[in-house]
Amino acid sequence: MSTIVSPSLLSANFMRLEEDIEMINKSQAEWLHIDVMDGTFVPNISFGFPILEAIVPSLKKELDVHLMIEEPMKFVEQFAKLGVATMNVHYEAVTHLHRALTAIRSNGMKSAVTLNPHTPVEVLTDVLEELDMVLLMSVNPGYGGQKFIPRTLDKTARLRKMIDERGLKTLIQIDGGVNQETGEALVKAGADSLVAGSYVFGHQNPLQAIEGLHKLSR
Ligand code: DX5
Ligand code: ZN
Repeated sequence: MSTIVSPSLLSANFMRLEEDIEMINKSQAEWLHIDVMDGTFVPNISFGFPILEAIVPSLKKELDVHLMIEEPMKFVEQFAKLGVATMNVHYEAVTHLHRALTAIRSNGMKSAVTLNPHTPVEVLTDVLEELDMVLLMSVNPGYGGQKFIPRTLDKTARLRKMIDERGLKTLIQIDGGVNQETGEALVKAGADSLVAGSYVFGHQNPLQAIEGLHKLSR
């Protein structure tokens, strides 16, 4: 099976957003990854609804929204209305995770949770059935272009085992420092989806970069 590629819009050229969206539409990427930051949960501010509303009419791919914000559930209905496919909240930001995941699904979206590099995958033991996807951060969230944390490979393998042992279909996505080399190791360890920002948008041929990641399989 091929890998679900989700290029991160954070590394796009905001002066030429339309061209970058056209490139994504033409590419083999299945999803587009949207990094929303509030300057509180993470030490950076990115973008929110105005940018999403601007790109939705032209985008032919599924929206995969990674919320690095303190109170993500305030916006569940707004994301659903926009046609977001996957709503992803941080484990470290949500006290009532089971309730949050149920609400995401009942609003017609796929439920996902992100774990920071220091959070072990085992914290999800009792909520795995409620999850369509788990995102493991392989850098500390807040910025593109950081160095991959190798420890993520072991976390990926442990999560793969937890999911497979229960016969679940929960996807594993990795975000941060992904390129062809780290991507290959991650897919071997059990990843289903790769987020890539600076690798894709900084590549001389972004379509080729996406194709390379998409072709990776276990
Ligand atoms: C970081 C974001 C990432 C970021 C990845 O907080 O969650 O999605 O865009 O960027 P790269 O691929 O450059 O590490
Ligand atoms: Zn992200």
